[in-house]
Amino acid sequence: MKIAVYGANGYTGRLVVAELARRGIDLVLVGRDIERLRKAAAGTEARAAGVDDTAALAGAFHDCDAVINCAGPFSVSGEAVVRAAIRAGRHYVDISGEQLYLKRIHDTFAQEATNAGVTVVPGVNDDGLPSDLIAHLAARRVSPVAELVIALDLARSGAAPSRGTLRSALANIGTFTGGGLTYRDGDWRPDVPALRTSIAFPAGTGPAPVARFPLPGVVTVPRHVSARHVEGVVRTELVAAFSAVTPEVVDSVPDGPSEDGRRAGRWTVMAEATGQDGRSARGVVSGPDTYGSTAVIAVESARRLVAGGAEPGVLAPAQAYDPIGFLDFLTEHGATWAVEVGPAPRTGPGLT
Ligand SMILES: NC(=O)c1ccc[n+]([C@@H]2O[C@H](COP(=O)([O-])OP(=O)(O)OC[C@H]3O[C@@H](n4cnc5c(N)ncnc54)[C@H](OP(=O)(O)O)[C@@H]3O)[C@@H](O)[C@H]2O)c1
Repeated sequence: MKIAVYGANGYTGRLVVAELARRGIDLVLVGRDIERLRKAAAGTEARAAGVDDTAALAGAFHDCDAVINCAGPFSVSGEAVVRAAIRAGRHYVDISGEQLYLKRIHDTFAQEATNAGVTVVPGVNDDGLPSDLIAHLAARRVSPVAELVIALDLARSGAAPSRGTLRSALANIGTFTGGGLTYRDGDWRPDVPALRTSIAFPAGTGPAPVARFPLPGVVTVPRHVSARHVEGVVRTELVAAFSAVTPEVVDSVPDGPSEDGRRAGRWTVMAEATGQDGRSARGVVSGPDTYGSTAVIAVESARRLVAGGAEPGVLAPAQAYDPIGFLDFLTEHGATWAVEVGPAPRTGPGLT
């Protein structure tokens, strides 16, 4: 098995490269600058191709089984890499957290990917993949579902997000200030008020104030869960922090947290599903090290596409992978997960 890593010299790209090497998977570094690629991983094969040259990109992927795209902001350069992977006939995953980009890939490339026999799974990171899988499992317990709330909680232990994360937030700043999309009655809309104004996170001492946030799961979960309403929320402090990103903030942070800083952090995703009959189920996945987990998830996602196969097309994580099998795999990397059925503590207006 051989995997191409696009944007291999970036902060997360380097972690993905290290994870592939740890797992003994052959890899090729691809990016727009050959010198930066060589500096990032001396001794590993490197190929230069920019996103403005689809033929060169497809050529760089031609002898690989899959592509892991780590080059963000994805709203700027991601589509070109998807197009090239499909043209080369190679499976594709990326680590994007950009909600509108993810929706565009699903909306634009489904037919092309299917025709080419290629599977495309965008948004496989520490948030997008676990939230999609756990939402699927929670929803299944109370189906048919009326409303599903996806919540993300990050404990960063003082470490700032990577510069690339903030640059991508800046490229999508309107989604952070506006709250992003909510799924309601069969479509995604930017103007639906949140049903939830507070939520009890597992690590908290009681309900914490939350607000809408452009989480990936809002655009992926309705592709495999039939629900009237799907929204994404985070603590109000996180909304405020992302809404305040400016070019000066991007320039002020290091390229990413130190290894100790990374490892001290923790991510938690929750999915609370309420059935049409009023029953509720709550799924929680939690793990260490946002960026390290993203590398583990991206590599395993690509590996599973090559080894196990999935239907061709653009798929949500729960459509491409067995949710329980993948979450169990994450427990080998320090994650925990559970789904409980029972009354969920809730604050907010609810569906009318
Ligand atoms: N949970 C999540 O949502 C999550 C978690 C982890 C990462 N991510 C996302 O992953 C992305 C990468 O983050 P990072 O911290 O690794 O960023 P980074 O260190 O800035 O690396 C970005 C990489 O992308 C390449 N790149 C950027 N724009 C490009 C373009 N137009 N054409 C070709 N290459 C381009 C850069 O190449 P050069 O060096 O040549 O500029 C570099 O290799 C971000 O979008 C981030 O939000 C999301």
